[in-house]
Amino acid sequence: MGKPMHKEEEVERFSRQIQSMFNAIAPRYDLLNRVLSCGVDQYWRKRAIRRLAWKPGGRYLDLACGTGDVALEYFERRDGCPGQVCALDFSEAMLRQAGVKFQNRRPPTLLPRFCAAAEALPFREKSFDGISVAFGARNFADREQALREMVRVLKPGGCAVILEFSLPREPLLREAYRAYFDRVLPRIGGWVSGHADAYTYLPESVGEFPERVEFAEMMRRAGFDRVRHRDMTFGIVTLYVGTQDA
Ligand SMILES: C[S@@+](CC[C@H](N)C(=O)[O-])C[C@H]1O[C@@H](n2cnc3c(N)ncnc32)[C@H](O)[C@@H]1O
Repeated sequence: MGKPMHKEEEVERFSRQIQSMFNAIAPRYDLLNRVLSCGVDQYWRKRAIRRLAWKPGGRYLDLACGTGDVALEYFERRDGCPGQVCALDFSEAMLRQAGVKFQNRRPPTLLPRFCAAAEALPFREKSFDGISVAFGARNFADREQALREMVRVLKPGGCAVILEFSLPREPLLREAYRAYFDRVLPRIGGWVSGHADAYTYLPESVGEFPERVEFAEMMRRAGFDRVRHRDMTFGIVTLYVGTQDA
């Protein structure tokens, strides 16, 4: 029998798996997002960014930025982005895609990018006025540690928005959604990306993610104040908001 693994080893191993999975699917990631969500994913990100308290000259962090779609939304706001936006992800391939996207933007836009883990953010405490995470929290190997890190780098008065998949509350809808998520989505995802495992992992990780109230409680335990959440699109996505009032 093998030696039992310590929590740190488990976290490390899971992190490496997730990192290589996202490196592998990065080139087709945007295409699949659009196809599998019928384009609604961009609307979710826009809504999340609109909920961030906006401060002229402020500093914002998009955590688990992937190919930079959320970071782009900061600049697409009708009232314009009043400050600096940084993006962080532990997948180099995802960060490369984000870099290309920002270079091709008109006008080309500077996006400082950081390759690091959400559980050990390379920033001083009280660095940011706002933080966004879209569809990243589900993948964090040590979710509580990542949330504590977010609280640490938020300035007093700062706000965080976390967008994550959830299951609809209405039983019939929940069944229909599960059928799509468990049977249809992994096939299309696997076929287009060439990485079937990644799109089998997606419904599994959504099923394993804490219920809304439980995740909100986890945010409070990590140090967030005024935590609230609201369903979007029949509850298939939930937007969590928390502040750092201290
Ligand atoms: C489903 S994608 C979401 C990307 C982007 N936010 C979006 O809305 O499309 C999840 C991203 O989280 C990143 N990620 C997962 N775990 C991470 C961790 N522990 N630290 C940093 N990035 C992580 C992955 O590399 C991936 O790019």
